[in-house]
Amino acid sequence: MPRTDRIEIDRTRLAALIERERATLAARTPRSRELAERANAHMIGGVPMQWMQIWAGQHALFFERAKGNRITDVDGNELLDFCLGDTGAMAGHSPEATVAAVRRRLDELGGVTTMLPTEDAIWVADDLARRFGMDMWTFALTATDANRWVLRTARQLTGRPKVLIMSYCYHGSVDETIIALEDGVPMSKPGNVGPQVDPALTTRVVEFNDLAMLERELAHGDVACVLAEPALTNMGIVLPDPGYWEAATRLIKAAGALLVIDETHTFSAGPGGCTQAWDLEPDIVTMGKSIAGGVPIGAYGVTAEVDARITADPMGDYVDTGGVGGTLAGNALSMAAARGTLEHVLTEEAFARMCDLGDRMLAGMQDVIDRHALPWVVAGLGARAEFRFCADMPRNGTESHDAHDADVEEWLHLVTLNNGILVTPFHNMCLVCPDTTAADVDRLLAVLDAAAEELRSV
Ligand SMILES: Cc1ncc(COP(=O)(O)O)c(C=O)c1O
Repeated sequence: MPRTDRIEIDRTRLAALIERERATLAARTPRSRELAERANAHMIGGVPMQWMQIWAGQHALFFERAKGNRITDVDGNELLDFCLGDTGAMAGHSPEATVAAVRRRLDELGGVTTMLPTEDAIWVADDLARRFGMDMWTFALTATDANRWVLRTARQLTGRPKVLIMSYCYHGSVDETIIALEDGVPMSKPGNVGPQVDPALTTRVVEFNDLAMLERELAHGDVACVLAEPALTNMGIVLPDPGYWEAATRLIKAAGALLVIDETHTFSAGPGGCTQAWDLEPDIVTMGKSIAGGVPIGAYGVTAEVDARITADPMGDYVDTGGVGGTLAGNALSMAAARGTLEHVLTEEAFARMCDLGDRMLAGMQDVIDRHALPWVVAGLGARAEFRFCADMPRNGTESHDAHDADVEEWLHLVTLNNGILVTPFHNMCLVCPDTTAADVDRLLAVLDAAAEELRSV
């Protein structure tokens, strides 16, 4: 039943509130504006990486320092950070143990990148095997690369040309995945920059939570692997229906395809991500971002069976220039940072606390929505929670994509920024880290409550 007990957002009022918040932000960030003007001289888009333009406000926000869950911008504003580098800083900013491990490697032992392995790498692979149940691991510098290498490996092992993904997923800048269903037809995403080939040639696309569609697309017999997040997170959180993964895994394996679960974001669900929390049975797990406390890293783990297939493959060149690997991958600094982070920061105890706070945040946000009868929903996944601006919970990526509301999002991000709170721009994520306290969560909820009150009162 569609929900009808919700207010309608008054768009005239919303536009006025956005104008006021823009002016407030501009007044709070004059030094950032100065730097943004200078940055335009020699940086494309005035930022070192283009996504940094996406923040609310008229220019990029430059920061000076960050520790735990606090960032101080160049104007001296302290921000309570619920963005946490879009999960890259899930361990908090510069956690002591990660800093100590990095400092030891840089200063005491030396050797950032040598093309030789360190003992830390063994510790990290053992730990990831224990957490995710995948026997054999290898390392990259980004989750994008981990996904790229895995797609090549899956095609090589199965001799099949295509990969299958969920509509409106995100797995990094991986060519095969920049595609979504438009009116049920797989189409290169609008704005896809210079695809080598039309991704409709490389990729089959289905809606998340649609088993019939998955079965239909697998029946073509040309799918090497299904690459999916266990819950979609990049278009707002979309949770699987009860029993979805059990049935989907059966279909995928029966069709002779490999199941690749991308845990880069869903690691928020617990110490072994959704794979551990929900007893999933992937053939391959990909990871990245957070496991080295913000130092660049990517990783993938495969079952012993997949490893045996790789080892027995007479044709694929996995050890030299066959298209899997990179000069700086597995470097000593990444490995030291990952060991420091996994051993001492993103521990089981830390996840237990983070997930409790995630639950508190989710319940508080639902309460704000209900108290003000807002036409929104919120979904949580362990340590994170996210709004969608529609009255009914989206069940797949397309529904979640269609719920995007640029004005409400701009307003939300401006209001939170002006109240000293950072929320992730792309998908409204609020994530907690080991440093976040209940008082921090309550402050976020109070800001959201006051903003909602203002939005609805005429
Ligand atoms: C699920 C998922 N996989 C992979 C990536 C790519 O990560 P990176 O940009 O670090 O390569 C992202 C980035 O947001 C992601 O959300």
